[in-house]
This record gives sequence, C-alpha cells and structure tokens, in this order.
Amino acid sequence: MLEVINLTKSYPAPRGPLLVLAGVNLTLAEGEAAAIMGPSGSGKSTLLYILGALEPPTSGQVVLNGRQPFDLPAAELAAFRNRQIGFVFQDHALLPQCTVLENVLVPTLVGGADGEARAFATQLIEQVGLRDRIDHRPSELSGGEKQRAALARARVRRPRLVWCDEPTGNLDRTSADLVADLLLDLHARQRSVLVVVTHSARLADRFPRRFALGDRVLMEVG
Ligand SMILES: Nc1ncnc2c1ncn2[C@@H]1O[C@H](COP(=O)(O)OP(=O)(O)OP(=O)(O)O)[C@@H](O)[C@H]1O
Ligand SMILES: [Mg+2]
Repeated sequence: MLEVINLTKSYPAPRGPLLVLAGVNLTLAEGEAAAIMGPSGSGKSTLLYILGALEPPTSGQVVLNGRQPFDLPAAELAAFRNRQIGFVFQDHALLPQCTVLENVLVPTLVGGADGEARAFATQLIEQVGLRDRIDHRPSELSGGEKQRAALARARVRRPRLVWCDEPTGNLDRTSADLVADLLLDLHARQRSVLVVVTHSARLADRFPRRFALGDRVLMEVG
C-alpha cells in the first residue's frame, strides 16, 4: 500500500529554492498498477525517488506498507528499501562486471544468497526470456535484454512495491511491448503495487490507473 499526502519537494538552487512538487497526493492499494506521465522536468523522477525512499521530501508524508520510511534510522531505512521496494532505473544500472545471474542476485546478497534465492533468480530470468543469456555480462546484452534483466533484479526479493523509471525508454516498439508484457505479468503474479513513469502513451494506456504530473501536482486522468 502506498500513501502520499501533501508532498512537496524543493531543491536548493543558486537563485533560491526550486519548487518541483507542491501538494502531491496519491493512494494506491495492493494489486494496483499506475502510470505517471508528464513533460520532461516536471518532477517524475524526483517523485519516484521519494517513493523509493532514496530522496527525502521537503514536506508531506510518504507511507509505504504502513511505515514512514523517512522516520527510520539510516541502517533500518536501507534494510526496508531492500526488502520492500524494487526499483528499475531509467538506465537499468546493471553492474558491468557481473553476469545476468549475478546482477539479479545482488539485492539478495545482504541476507546471504542461499539456494532458494538462486533458484528464484533463475526462475525470474527464465520468465523474462533470458535463460540463454544468464551468463552474459551487460555489455553482451541488447538494450531490451538489459531492461529485462533489471526487471528480474527488481523482483528478486519479492518486493510489494515496484517503481520503474522509463522502463521502455530507449527500446523499439517490439521490445517495449515485450518489457511491458513482462512488467504487467510479473505484477499480476506478485500482487505488488506497481508505479511506472513513462513518456510513452502506448505504455501508459495499458495501466488501469493513469496520472499526469504538471504544474507541480499529480492529477488522475481518464
Ligand atoms: N538534485 C537536484 N538539484 C537541483 N535541481 C534538480 C535536482 N534534480 C532535479 N532537479 C530539477 O528538478 C526538476 C525535475 O527533475 P526530474 O528529474 O524529476 O524531472 P523528470 O520529470 O523526471 O524529467 P525527464 O522526463 O526529463 O526525466 C528539473 O527541472 C530538474 O532540473
Ligand atoms: Mg526523469
């Protein structure tokens, strides 16, 4: 469950604080999937980073599965993030020296990657269609394959909250459709809360709930 109440965010800037978000509200229940669209610079990544407990808000509340992450001490916050949140970064952020399997296992390493984690990672890699690429390093993958590996990595801890920043950003239509299929399919299997930030109306149209970020606030659209 995700609850955002009256969230504001401003960044310090040379000419005074830059207000990016002013009074954002959003509630999503378990099993819901939402797409957020908005022009470049409207604050979509900023909002997603706050929802990912990676960046604190200036004011307002963020409640993730009943907890207010920014009230937690740093070590507990890191553990909370690792356990509860799967994040797919815009540039996939895979470790270049690691294989697909090793990359997918990274989030499990804090608890010591056991046999169960390895089996589940392998299963996810098969689900995203990378069985034959499991030993490849990111430089030996296509753009779409990297995004699919990032998707598997975001899911490996079975997080109940999954946030994706432009998961189909640099992909052609076929690869983008495939990544979207996988995203929604994994979401249906794991009954998480899914939020995707995208410029693609084609991707957004596949989500039951759609929001537009503009003028520093979030509005639900058709
Ligand atoms: N750390 C920062 N310090 C100061 N300003 C920032 C910082 N990060 C982002 N901004 C500014 O905040 C605004 C929102 O940035 P953000 O990255 O959230 O936009 P976005 O909607 O994700 O854009 P895009 O679609 O291009 O990815 C931008 O005008 C940006 O310049
Ligand atoms: Mg962005």
